[in-house]
Amino acid sequence: MSFDTTGADNQSGDALENLLTENRHFEPSAEFAANAIVQAGEYAKANADRPAFWAEKSRELLSWSKPFTKSLDWSNPPFATWFEDGEINAAYNALDRHVEAGNGDRVAIHFEGEPGDTRTYTYAQLTEEVKKAANAFESLGLAKGDRVAVYLPMIPEAVITLLACARIGAIHSVVFGGFSADALRSRIDDAEAKLVVTADGTFRRGKPSSLKPAVDEALANPGHSVTNVVVVKRNGEDVNWVEGRDVWWDDTVGTASAEHTAVGHASEHPLFILYTSGTTGKPKGILHTTGGYLTQAAYTHRAVFDLHPETDVFWCTADVGWVTGHSYVTYAPLINGATQVMYEGTPDSPHQGRFWEIVEKYKVSILYTAPTAIRTFMKWGEDIPAKYDLSSIRLLGSVGEPINPEAWMWYRRVIGGNNAPIVDTWWQTETGAIMIAPLPGVTSTKPGSAQVPMPGIAVDVVDELGASVPHGHGGYLVIREPWPSMLRGIWGDNDRYKDTYWSRFDGMYFAGDGAKWDEDGDVWLLGRVDDVMNVSGHRLSTTEIESALVSHPSVAEAAVVGAADETTGQAVVAFVILRGSAVEDADIVTTLRNHVGREIGPIAKPKTILVVPELPKTRSGKIMRRLLKDVAEGREVGDSSTLADNTVMNQIAASLKA
Ligand code: WTA
Repeated sequence: MSFDTTGADNQSGDALENLLTENRHFEPSAEFAANAIVQAGEYAKANADRPAFWAEKSRELLSWSKPFTKSLDWSNPPFATWFEDGEINAAYNALDRHVEAGNGDRVAIHFEGEPGDTRTYTYAQLTEEVKKAANAFESLGLAKGDRVAVYLPMIPEAVITLLACARIGAIHSVVFGGFSADALRSRIDDAEAKLVVTADGTFRRGKPSSLKPAVDEALANPGHSVTNVVVVKRNGEDVNWVEGRDVWWDDTVGTASAEHTAVGHASEHPLFILYTSGTTGKPKGILHTTGGYLTQAAYTHRAVFDLHPETDVFWCTADVGWVTGHSYVTYAPLINGATQVMYEGTPDSPHQGRFWEIVEKYKVSILYTAPTAIRTFMKWGEDIPAKYDLSSIRLLGSVGEPINPEAWMWYRRVIGGNNAPIVDTWWQTETGAIMIAPLPGVTSTKPGSAQVPMPGIAVDVVDELGASVPHGHGGYLVIREPWPSMLRGIWGDNDRYKDTYWSRFDGMYFAGDGAKWDEDGDVWLLGRVDDVMNVSGHRLSTTEIESALVSHPSVAEAAVVGAADETTGQAVVAFVILRGSAVEDADIVTTLRNHVGREIGPIAKPKTILVVPELPKTRSGKIMRRLLKDVAEGREVGDSSTLADNTVMNQIAASLKA
């Protein structure tokens, strides 16, 4: 069976047919169901009164320093508030209270560095580190409401930094380490960050890989808001040093006092900004606030992963640079008092069994990873995981893109011992926490479908006009009611927030994904319906990469599409028209790939760049990406009758053959 991940409008008839005839179901084992944290009654209870349900969960899972009396306020849509009159400290909830409850000796983080170095933090130790970092940041002049850009590898200091910010009410803005100096600078400027926390570098496939030079380059031109850069020593590389601006982590955090009292912040106090690609223009700073976000992150983590904090070992493989690394590495596992694994490196370093070696070593019981990783493991072969003892695994999660039924089946059989339930979780940077997923002790799981809206979440699939479609039909995924961890806006741009998410359908949140209800009433996610690509679970915008290409003097015009790719889900394919003499430049493709790497970051480099004489455009000048996608995916080109010049596709075909 094939499953097309390239967008709802590109679903082939066969793929849809297959979706609707998926009839493999896997019931949870009797033992799993009996011990499950969340039972079936939860749905009815939640849906009877959503705000009351979330208020109850919030009181149950979090410690409020000032209890709230109000749940949801939706009197000024699309601006929601949750638990507005309450006060809470995120770091206190993630740390201190576990120590106060006598669980200070429980391991919070088992850290595994790429070179094989390890560190273990108990809850007591992590609390101490966060208190020191909070004091150190305050001593650098950081105050409540200030923004902090975080440009760190997957090391414990990343979690410590985020929680230290949350503790003092500073707003963190993590920039993934794979983004370039330019991308970092534009995010620093947009959020007007006062502090940058970075490292000398990290390790990638056994070699040092730098971070600090990108920070130096980002801050080279004046006019920025940064007063200090805190640098973690990680890979020991020589670094350039700006006296008065740069400080070593060890010299500030290392020497700071370990006494720090957490005070409550208003529930709607901003917790973080996280930039994500949109369809047009510059990346959007997605804004999340405190009380509602923590409530839904903590609840979904317990319910979807069936977390038993005393006995489970949780491992979410996402980088802290993405939202998954915020909600399911930094916040929810610690709020819930879990023991988790954190790994710095890639799955193939130093060998292709690294993940399974880690699972065996720490007896990981819950593994949460992405379909692109699963497909890579499939490619490497099942004899690799077979060498390790994976019997500790009792639940598997997937996130980031649709999971193909084959990959789902492989994951269950080879990694899950034919027994562990799989939870395919759909959500977004904007939703803050999981929105659609099976409940592992309740739902009979089905390969390829994220299945059921979470209790308390009102998901629907609608047609062009916003009317619900019946079972067996597809359309656009929307959310009909506000939810606790919803974005509160786009940093500094309320109009863009309204336009992007709330203007497509009246009164509904438009997610940008195509979806379908199957005959059983389960949801299938069919990929983005806009110009956002999903490469290895990372969001990239076609427009942004086109702008990067066109900013090169050799490029006259560019069009970018996401083409189906066996491993990464989609791959970036660019069609470019060159200017003048560049046509003769044999290295132009390499030059342009590197240029995109510099402008946005290595993750955005096109896999393929095709030099063409023309681009297919409609009479109104709109590039018909659909036709380019056909070319990129090696299909017969579809209907091109609306092109201004219908010989263009032939010219492209001829130029690619040449
Ligand atoms: C896609 C990642 C299908 C989707 C948490 C969404 C998924 C975008 C799934 C958000 C899934 C995420 N099945 N598609 N289980 N999870 N997506 O903001 O297109 O990096 O809109 O958040 O990823 O990506 P983001």
